[in-house]
Amino acid sequence: MSFNTEVPLAQLLEQLCQQFEEAQLFYGHGTDNPWDEAVYLVFSVLGISFDADDSIMQRVVSSEELARLSPLLRQRIEARVPVAYLVKEAWFAGLPFTVDERVLIPRSPLAELIAQDFAALVQRPPTRILDLCTGSGCIGIATALNFPEAKVELADISDAALTLAQINIERHGLQSRAKAIKSDLLQSLHGPYDLILSNPPYVSQAEIDELPAEYCHEPVLGLFSEEEGLAIPLQILRNAADYLSADGVLIMEVGYSHEALSARLPNVPFLWLEFEHGGEGIFMLSAEQLRAAQAALA
Ligand SMILES: C[S@@+](CC[C@H](N)C(=O)[O-])C[C@H]1O[C@@H](n2cnc3c(N)ncnc32)[C@H](O)[C@@H]1O
Repeated sequence: MSFNTEVPLAQLLEQLCQQFEEAQLFYGHGTDNPWDEAVYLVFSVLGISFDADDSIMQRVVSSEELARLSPLLRQRIEARVPVAYLVKEAWFAGLPFTVDERVLIPRSPLAELIAQDFAALVQRPPTRILDLCTGSGCIGIATALNFPEAKVELADISDAALTLAQINIERHGLQSRAKAIKSDLLQSLHGPYDLILSNPPYVSQAEIDELPAEYCHEPVLGLFSEEEGLAIPLQILRNAADYLSADGVLIMEVGYSHEALSARLPNVPFLWLEFEHGGEGIFMLSAEQLRAAQAALA
């Protein structure tokens, strides 16, 4: 960044945008273009609300503020660190979550279903909810806030991730209704749950090798799954029925592994959900369907 003295915010953002374009950064962790990426970084560091009106663009960024931004910009451009890790905050379902390199940066299309209270997918408001493979806790916490009567369990195998999930439980004042639990998939959990939500690791080694540099800062435990990405999703599918109430449902993300999963299990009636704001590879199966599919899943 070549500014040595104070500069209007608009001018700073334009220059950053140009630098991001020249550096050919990858955007996949909360934004999808250089302008939004620059806004995310600068507004977070300067403590400016994302809801601020356009007059904020006239605000002067002081040389002290530029000095604070400068090392972060270098890390974004040279080391390709995603902005969420630089500012230790990511947004999911309109809510802020504390994140760092111990957890994946929240970005699941599940946020859209949460905003709609899982309309047409659940027969009644769920009272016991499980967020399996919770990471930062974003899915379970956002869901808990939409179902104020529900108790929510946030499960992960990683102690480091659970530390952050607990921080986010407290950040959102959910200590009385949400609990972070260490579990290898469903092993240490006790159903029945009315709703199991899961965004598990589902990326194959070949796909990991091809990912843009930004993804290398995320924990590989959050991405990688054996058997071309399907090992962990299949294990959850095999056991989920035993952890669901009679009218319970499983909603799981498998991203671009969805074709491989459908091909592997042609007789399982996956309901692949559609998203207005983008995203794919999320299915729903009822407890009844999972029970009926036990033979195919075995
Ligand atoms: C794709 S990340 C999802 C994080 C979060 N739910 C989200 O959407 O941002 C997958 C998470 O699964 C956890 N995980 C990996 N293997 C697991 C296992 N065997 N049992 C439980 N959690 C596991 C990882 O630690 C990671 O936090």
